Amino acid sequence: MHCFRVQGGIPLSGSVTISGSKNAALPIICATLLSKERFVLKNVPNIVDIHAILRVLNYIGSEYSFENNTLTIQTKKIRRKKIMHNLVSKLRASILLLGPILARSNQVALSYPGGCVIGKRPVDTHLDAFKRLGAKVREKNDIITLSAPKGLSGADITMQEQSVTATENIIMSAILAKGKTIIRLAACEPHVVDMCKFLVKMGAKIKGIGNHQLSIEGGRRLKGVKYTITPDYLEAGTLAISAAITKGEVTLKKAPIHQLDALWQKFEEAKIPFRIDKDSITILPIKKKMQPIRKLRTGVYPSFPTDLQAPFAVLLTQAHGISKIFETLFEGRLSYLFELEKMGAQMEIINNNQALIIGPTKLRGSPIDSCDIRAGAAMVIAALGAKGESEISNINYIDRGYEGLDLKLRKLGAQIERFQI
Ligand code: EPU
Repeated sequence: MHCFRVQGGIPLSGSVTISGSKNAALPIICATLLSKERFVLKNVPNIVDIHAILRVLNYIGSEYSFENNTLTIQTKKIRRKKIMHNLVSKLRASILLLGPILARSNQVALSYPGGCVIGKRPVDTHLDAFKRLGAKVREKNDIITLSAPKGLSGADITMQEQSVTATENIIMSAILAKGKTIIRLAACEPHVVDMCKFLVKMGAKIKGIGNHQLSIEGGRRLKGVKYTITPDYLEAGTLAISAAITKGEVTLKKAPIHQLDALWQKFEEAKIPFRIDKDSITILPIKKKMQPIRKLRTGVYPSFPTDLQAPFAVLLTQAHGISKIFETLFEGRLSYLFELEKMGAQMEIINNNQALIIGPTKLRGSPIDSCDIRAGAAMVIAALGAKGESEISNINYIDRGYEGLDLKLRKLGAQIERFQI
């Protein structure tokens, strides 16, 4: 098992460049399956989840090279349409293979995907929308099989949930379907938008990008293209919070600033100073008392992102007063609070979705565990803000979603090292 050892209490300082977005790169890589041609993707983050999805693509017939954050990939033929448990058990995003393989080959079978344990993560929204495009859906022995022997047909679809990956899946399949598809209640997170821009560059016709209603003209020929993945707003948010908890001064270069407006609003409410420049943001040292947040309510974009709930809650342990957390998307995303309690944080857990953080508390270095990608990053933030040494176990979760988080933090002056037990 890989772990981090962190000496806390050192203000971060300096600048760091934000890497490409994991949640944009994953669907874009899957979308390359829609064409036989060759793609060159730049700014692809070098993280465990990207290597995992590439292993699956390689298994089904893609050839690729991945060096210096540039991925060259081509799938002349989809050789396997049945993808079993061992390949997809650790990666929820493998659900994104359903849409493009079904659209290109008219059939696909996939074991239920794994991924972070952050609550029930159903796939009913995906399957309902596939049915509306004319696919036959069968679920047996934990395998999802989709088939459309005569091809998919455009439809008017109201999504059951504003689900990110379900929206991405349905967009990818609608592009090769016959006729027009309308998707209502589409998710519009920045990674969904980036995937749509990529598809448009390939030749797709999509109207309404960035809104909750999309209109897609199907049946167009798609070509191989070069594309640069958007920077990761979730990494930028994580590093901004890391700077704030250490009362440091850190500039985030190439940060997608406006994608994080909900976070900056909370920074203002908490009286955390920052400065926005053209394509960078600088978190300034906190000199006054940090204020509590009346309600940190997560929601779909552009509300406060669920993926930054745990990192921000850690910061709230330093606010002078009581802050309320309300996680509305996932019911298993407060488990990191038990780890935080070991470090001296005071809180009241109301139920699976709500908690009060009672600040300020001095966090003390402790042995702690990462429960998922974002909770793992939250533990790093807690360790950076704590007095003394912390050891964080299970950092494989963090490596799934953050490119060289330890290297970036070391560049900013943190004492963080990686070790194995
Ligand atoms: N939902 C359903 N039925 C479905 C699908 C989703 O009820 O068929 C519900 C979920 O239970 C949840 C809500 O819809 O309450 C939203 O879930 P969503 O489907 O959007 O989650 P996802 O697509 O599986 C993506 C990100 C997650 C991020 C969520 C929410 C990717 C690869 N993953 O997951 O990212 O937390 O959207 O924004 O884009 C992470 O990066 O650490 C991560 C977990």
